[in-house]
Amino acid sequence: MSKPFLSIERLTQKFPDGQGGELTVFENASFGVEKGEFVCILGHSGCGKSTIMNILAGLAEPTSGVVKMDGMEVSGPSLDRGVVFQNYSLLPWLSALKNVIFGVKARHPDWPRDKAEAHARDFLAKVGLEGDVVHRKPSQLSGGMRQRVSIARAFANHPKLLLLDEPFGALDALTRGTIQDELLKIWGGTEQTVFMITHDIDEAILLADRILLMTNGPFARVAESVEITIPRPRNRTEIVEHPNYYAIRNHLVHFLGSRSKELAGQKVDGDDLRPDTVRIDQAGIVTDSPGDARSSPRLHAVND
Ligand SMILES: Nc1ncnc2c1ncn2[C@@H]1O[C@H](COP(=O)(O)OP(=O)(O)O)[C@@H](O)[C@H]1O
Ligand SMILES: [Mg+2]
Repeated sequence: MSKPFLSIERLTQKFPDGQGGELTVFENASFGVEKGEFVCILGHSGCGKSTIMNILAGLAEPTSGVVKMDGMEVSGPSLDRGVVFQNYSLLPWLSALKNVIFGVKARHPDWPRDKAEAHARDFLAKVGLEGDVVHRKPSQLSGGMRQRVSIARAFANHPKLLLLDEPFGALDALTRGTIQDELLKIWGGTEQTVFMITHDIDEAILLADRILLMTNGPFARVAESVEITIPRPRNRTEIVEHPNYYAIRNHLVHFLGSRSKELAGQKVDGDDLRPDTVRIDQAGIVTDSPGDARSSPRLHAVND
């Protein structure tokens, strides 16, 4: 079997628990992400999502295990991996435009200023920021605008992997919807791979090819990989009409509402714990024998 673009192998993270012992956040977590895939990860607060993302970004080192991107071990941050944090992390003393140019110049130090600026303006325009507003500093922008600048900065660098940690968590529903659409548009025009943390089930179904579900910690696990069997392009108002939508949604709600707790803290034996693949497809019910048609959703749990 060929190796995926991003490969997480036997990742374990332990932290001191502050009382002389240690806290095992997750142990031997293994999963892969294919090139160009949009993967969301859902799980309760504290299960270790940000820790996983910081390791993927090269900003933190795991206790053990490795992350490989394109076959190369991730060690330290790289411009090949763009990160958008929940709290924007823009440089407060630079304008929106200069924040994006700063990133472009880091990626392309040889580009003349005009070229870097035109590129930055192009990406700001893609997230709906044009005109005088690009000269404002972060403190003079709304939360939604700041988040757009962060996204423009990350995409303008054409990272092979885009890592998003609850990027829309602090936004109101309307702004959130607009930026989700913009994110999908930009991603659709590239071959970039996206790994996004969210706690919003509907957002994850709208955006993702696949949703990874984490159990509660300690000893959290990426228990399932749920395929989103809804064709693209997707639209937030039409997606709910798709026959698979509520079947998938109910599965996710059930996992987060009860199974994530039931499975919590269970140390599972094995040194390479891959998630079960779950495929829910009501539209294309295929049965083994004629006359065995079912009207309930078909749900497979297949071990990779
Ligand atoms: N640097 C650290 N030192 C000690 N404990 C930490 C550290 N970072 C995270 N943790 C703990 O690890 C667990 C997972 O945290 P985190 O990855 O932020 O969860 P999530 O993003 O899923 O909410 C939490 O219990 C948190 O308190
Ligand atoms: Mg977090």
